[in-house]
Amino acid sequence: MTGGATAATAVRLRIRRAGVDDAAGLAAIHEAAFAGTGERGWREEEIARLIADDTITTLLATLADGRPAGFVMTRLGGLVADILSIAVAPAFQRRGIGGRLLAAALTDAAAGGAGRVFLEVAADNAAAQALYRQQKFEPVGVRKNYYRRADGSRADALVLLLPIGGGCGCDELS
Ligand SMILES: CC(C)(COP(=O)(O)OP(=O)(O)OC[C@H]1O[C@@H](n2cnc3c(N)ncnc32)[C@H](O)[C@@H]1OP(=O)(O)O)[C@@H](O)C(=O)NCCC(=O)NCCS
Repeated sequence: MTGGATAATAVRLRIRRAGVDDAAGLAAIHEAAFAGTGERGWREEEIARLIADDTITTLLATLADGRPAGFVMTRLGGLVADILSIAVAPAFQRRGIGGRLLAAALTDAAAGGAGRVFLEVAADNAAAQALYRQQKFEPVGVRKNYYRRADGSRADALVLLLPIGGGCGCDELS
C-alpha cells in the first residue's frame, strides 16, 4: 500500500476480485479514465472476456457505498506477471486508489510466484509514469509506435520492470 493519500483526501475502499457481472462498471471507468490519454476505452464485452480469462486477475476497488472506483488487471502465471491495465474513475483520482490497487496487484503477483512484473505505459502519460515510479518500477525499453490513438496517431510505449519476491525469472525469460 502506498502513502499517496493524505488524511483529508483518503477514501474508504474495499478491494476485491471482479466478476463478469462487474464488466459494465469497469468499462465505464476505463472509458472515462482513458479519455484524456487519446486511447480507446475497452468495451464491456472485451472486459468481460478478460475477467473470465483464468490467467488474468482483475481487482476492483469499490467505495464504502459499493460504487466501483478503479480496477487493475494482471496476467499471472509462471515467473513473469504483466499489468495489463489500471484505471481510476476521474472523480476519484489522486486519492491513493491507483497506488493501493497497484500494490494489491503486486502482492497477488508475488503470492502467485512471479519474480518480475512488466508493464507498458505511453511515453506521454506522466501521471501513470509517476505512479509506477512511486512503486519503484524502472524503464527497461521502448516499443516504438506501440499505441494507436483514436485520432490515428501513434505513441511510443515505455516498458517498465519491477523485480519482486525472491525469484528472478531468468530461466523463463531466456
Ligand atoms: C494512473 C492512474 C491509475 C493513477 O490513479 P490515482 O488513483 O490517481 O493514483 P494515486 O492517487 O494512487 O497516485 C499515486 C501517485 O501517482 C502519481 N500520480 C498520480 N496521478 C498523477 C498526476 N495526475 N500527475 C502526477 N503524478 C500523479 C503521484 O506520484 C501520486 O502520489 P501523490 O498523490 O502522493 O503525489 C489514474 O491517473 C488513471 O486512471 N489514469 C488514466 C488511465 C491510465 O493512464 N492508466 C495507466 C495506463 S499504463
